[in-house]
Amino acid sequence: MNIPLFDLTRQYQDIKKDVLESLDNIFSSGKVILGENVKKLESDLSKKIESKYACGVANGSDALLIALHALDIKNGDYVITTPFTFFATASSITRNNATPIFVDVEEKYYNIDLEKVETILKTHPEKEKIKAIIPVHLFGKTLDMEKLKYLKNKYNIKIIEDCAQSIGSIWKSKDGNKIYSGTVGDFGTTSFFPTKNLGGYGDGGMIFTQEENLQKRVKKLRVHGAAKKYFHDEIGYNSRLDEVQAAILNIKLNMLDEFTEKRIEKAKRYDQLFKDLNLTDKIIYPDYINDKTHVYHQYVITLKKGNRNELAQYLSKNGIGNSKYYPECLHRQKCFEYLGYKTGDFPIAEKATENTIAIPIFPELTDEEQEYIVNKIKEFYN
Ligand SMILES: Cc1ncc(COP(=O)(O)O)c(C=O)c1O
Repeated sequence: MNIPLFDLTRQYQDIKKDVLESLDNIFSSGKVILGENVKKLESDLSKKIESKYACGVANGSDALLIALHALDIKNGDYVITTPFTFFATASSITRNNATPIFVDVEEKYYNIDLEKVETILKTHPEKEKIKAIIPVHLFGKTLDMEKLKYLKNKYNIKIIEDCAQSIGSIWKSKDGNKIYSGTVGDFGTTSFFPTKNLGGYGDGGMIFTQEENLQKRVKKLRVHGAAKKYFHDEIGYNSRLDEVQAAILNIKLNMLDEFTEKRIEKAKRYDQLFKDLNLTDKIIYPDYINDKTHVYHQYVITLKKGNRNELAQYLSKNGIGNSKYYPECLHRQKCFEYLGYKTGDFPIAEKATENTIAIPIFPELTDEEQEYIVNKIKEFYN
């Protein structure tokens, strides 16, 4: 068998007709920059996640960069984030000339530990310089949104939720209300990179906010800081969501709920297979959650026994796509050496770089393929 970690081609067969038709409409109309498709996606996606505003940008990295800029994060400011995330989360801070403060993750889902964040907010020697937090809803697991709200209000701190991996995920409050990831922070940002739960056929990103003035600012920043064309209030970016990508994403947005349900179904099946094959003393799997509090962008298992790199090789040899998310923590990246962190500073994140592995999860993955994958993991341990 040959099972990729993610497969864009299977999905294409289902939407091919609609995609080609909508591309033909765009090319025939000649309206290829910030046209009706971008507007429609902004409107429909913000409705879907119950956000007041949305602004399409060129990619998820720019979404973070522009959101921080719009909050006036600058040289001398500190921003808290996780060392266990994709690079862009932290580079958006340094690209705004501010300094990241890393905080370790929790052991279950590898999300930033919000208790430790609060400790830093209380005890950091230069705590008055900490201006923002970028929490990431990692692998699609929503963070505790009530705790985020609490931190935002209690410490009067800005929050930019990185929802690149969590579009459509929710948090359920104690009284049963659901809160979508991306709607509690001053900004939420997402990515439409092809592998994402809502992925295009190229790059794309979006910024969500509940405040009109912030929406105006990011809309201006995405077009060179000009609220009126050719009149520049400030220096911005060229970071527009591409009309072609927006057209494709509009088609896929109609299927997002179905995609998410299928991901959740696959996660449940993996969990059951691991139990059935008595693998629970060898690996820890991301406890199946029966609602959208986890949208399983990735299905990452943790090895209790055995060598992760050997398992990765074994899976590859047997045609099973896999990946290490992430093979190195951000505080140990060469480009962040100047921050002065060292090995041992974030033990949970550091351990996760050594003993976790992502296995295929996508809506079109078949039962047979899942069985094959789990059987090969079992075989590895025999
Ligand atoms: C957590 C996280 N943040 C930011 C990004 C950046 O998004 P993009 O690749 O669209 O720039 C990604 C995706 O790659 C991501 O996974």
